[in-house]
This record gives sequence, structure tokens and C-alpha cells, in this order.
Amino acid sequence: MNDLDSKKLKTLYLEFFKEKNHKVIPSAPLVPQYDNTVLFTTAGMHPLIPYLMGQEHPAGRRLVNVQKCLRTDDIFEIGDDSHLTFFEMLGNWSLGDYFKNESIRWSFEFLTDKGWLAIDLDRLYATVFAGDEDAPRDEVSAKIWRDVGMPVERIFYLPKKDNWWGPVGDTGPCGPDTEIFYDTEKEACGPDCRPGCACGKYFEIWNNVFMEYNRTPDGKYEPLKQKNVDTGMGVERTVACLSGMKSVYETDTFKPLMTKILEITGTQLSVEVEDTGKERSRRIIADHVKAATFIMAERVSASNVGRGYILRRLLRRAVRHAKILGIEKEFLSELAKVVIETYKTDYPILEQNSQFIMSEAISEETRFRNTLNRGLGKFGRLSAEKGKIDGKDAFLLFQSFGFPIEITKELADEKGIQVDVKGFDEEFMKHQQLSRQGAEKMFEKKSR
Ligand code: GLY
Repeated sequence: MNDLDSKKLKTLYLEFFKEKNHKVIPSAPLVPQYDNTVLFTTAGMHPLIPYLMGQEHPAGRRLVNVQKCLRTDDIFEIGDDSHLTFFEMLGNWSLGDYFKNESIRWSFEFLTDKGWLAIDLDRLYATVFAGDEDAPRDEVSAKIWRDVGMPVERIFYLPKKDNWWGPVGDTGPCGPDTEIFYDTEKEACGPDCRPGCACGKYFEIWNNVFMEYNRTPDGKYEPLKQKNVDTGMGVERTVACLSGMKSVYETDTFKPLMTKILEITGTQLSVEVEDTGKERSRRIIADHVKAATFIMAERVSASNVGRGYILRRLLRRAVRHAKILGIEKEFLSELAKVVIETYKTDYPILEQNSQFIMSEAISEETRFRNTLNRGLGKFGRLSAEKGKIDGKDAFLLFQSFGFPIEITKELADEKGIQVDVKGFDEEFMKHQQLSRQGAEKMFEKKSR
């Protein structure tokens, strides 16, 4: 589709499911409201877990929304064409209402119908769960796909590692899914290239999860009280793919950020286009500042624990990559302003908390810039003397110079030397334990 941008995709999606009697619910906050076991909302289904388990939802049994999500597991992949820390996810849910038949038929209609996305059927593929000891082979979904017109040779049966979703954490609602792939028409990587292959020829556009199981603490899958549907479609990735863009950073919600970064560095894109190292740094900055701005909008401050530590890591890594691009002046707040401007209509919380966002960004950047050059010097000496960074040294870089482990690891990778990340984690835990004991002692003294 030529004129597809994120606003259009979101509007079409919500309209389509409203027509199918779904209620639009607002995005839940990034900071989970009821679940202390995870730091951030990672998927649209996450805030709905109690309702997937059987609790009644006040808006009914058919829901649809655009959910802001944050995932940090892939932090070292950021900078490639498709991974993002913060992204918006489109989702529709059946809470014990419709199941596989309606779900697959509606997905097919939304993707292929001329009034909606009008994707050519020749470019679509489907995968279904191959079955194992926990759940049967999903012949039901495969038949529905055949019935709607998907050629049988474009339906693949894949194992749990590909076609199963959830739970979030170790326990909770989960189930087999069917995934819909779009052929990007890139060259196949080999004779076995097919949907699910990591080469990128086939792009996963949508997953429909049939959440009918609860994973229990002993690893068993027991049937849930109700059969649910949970679908997920990433906005930025889908817009990029369907518009034939090379990466998510070319989409409308990244464009103003990428332009601002070029403006700050005084760079003409045409001159820099071949410099993939610098392009990667620009992408990392854009991704991290966007994610950090959304975190700060929920009034999280940078710190060395929990959410605050994730925020600190994102902001500091952005500053380190800014240094690679030669940005020596304070810039984070300027970029945060661009994020606020881009998203303020859909997420008013950004503008409501803009003062807080600005002051947090400025103070964290100032703090880190005070130690960054000395830390880089120390890293240079340690790597020259030892040819590696052990756990204690990585912790020293963290404690004395504020280098989160990603920065040390990235610097070491650039030099081709090893970092003992496990050793760092042990030192970090030891230190946190000591601080806790110290705080408890202080508290005991005070309460005496
Ligand atoms: N529907 C699950 C996910 O995409 O995250």
C-alpha cells in the first residue's frame, strides 16, 4: 500500500474490529498496574491476563486496542532493520467469545479485502502449530486457512518454538498460534527458506494466539476456563514492510527523530548513506530516546535499580552513541521533545509530564557526560593492560564511571576483547545485597 503510515494502519485496524463488535480499550501504561513480576508491559495481552484467566472485563468479551509495549531482551539487536525497544502493538481479543474460525477469517479479510489492506493473496503464507505432548497438531486452523483460499502449499506446520505464544513469565495463559507471513520478495536464502526462516524473506505480519491453556508452576499445560484469542501486529514493522521500506527507521514515527539527529550532527544523509556504523548509532539513539521518553512520561527516574536502571541504560547508551557521532553538547532533551511532539495526540501523558521528562533527560545526560571521557580512558587502559575486562573491572567501570554493562560490552566488542558479564552480574548482586543490608542496619538504628 502506497500511502500507509502508522496513523492510517491504526485507524483502519480499530475501524475494522469496531465493525466486528469489538470495544476499543485504551493502551494500558508501560508500568504494569497489577503485576510486580515484570518491569514493563511487553505485549497487548499482558494487561489482560486476569481476563484471559476468566475474570469479567468491564468492556465486554471482544476488545481491540493499540498498546504501547517495551521489550529489552533484544537490546544488542537494536540498530538492525526491525528490532525496537518501544513499539506499538495492534491487538484484538476474544475473552471466551469467538475462537479460531472468526479470528482467522477476520485476519484474512482485513489483510486481503480491497476496502482494508488489500494485500495480494499471492504474497501471504500461514503457519500453524505442528503439535506435541502439550497440545494437538492444529488441523482446525489449517482447514480454516484452506477454506478461505490459502493454497495448501503455503500453509506450514511448525513446532512450539515458532508457533506457540506465552506465558509472560513462567506461568499463565498461553497457547498455540497461527502466524501470517508476507513475502518481501527478497531472494530466498536457500532451498529450505520458508516462513519462520530468520533470513527476513518472510516477514511475520500478524500472530493469532489461541489462548486456551494455563502453564502451571510445575510446567504443565492445563485447559483454561475459557478459550481466548489474542492477536498481535507490530505497527512500525508492518508499516515498514507493507510500504516496501528498508527499515522501521524510515516510518513516519521515526522520521522526525532521524531528521533531528542528522540536523544536530550537521550531516547530509546523502554523504553518510554508506556509513553503516554511523547509521547504526543514529538508529540506536532514536530507538533508545523514544523508549526512554515513554518511560519518563510515566514518571520513572533514572537509578541503579529496576525500571530506573533500564531507563538509565537506555539514556546512557544513547549518549555514548552520540559521542560516536561527534555530538558533544546536551542533546537528549531536544530529541525527547521530538518524541513528545510526534506522539502527544495519541498519548497525552507525554505532554502532561514534559517538564519532568526534560529535567530527567538533562540531569541524567549531565551526570553521565561528567564521567564518560574518564571512563573511556579507564576502559582503554584496562583493555590495553589485560586484553580483557573481568567482572570486577566491569563493575568498577559501572560504579566509578557510570558505565552500564551494555556500554562496556559494546566497547569491548569493538576492540574484539572479552567481558566477563556473568562476573559483572555477580559483583552487581553482591553490591546490591550489601547496600540492602546497610539500609536495613540504618533502619534498625533509626527505629531503636
Ligand atoms: N499476541 C502476542 C504478541 O504478539 O505479543
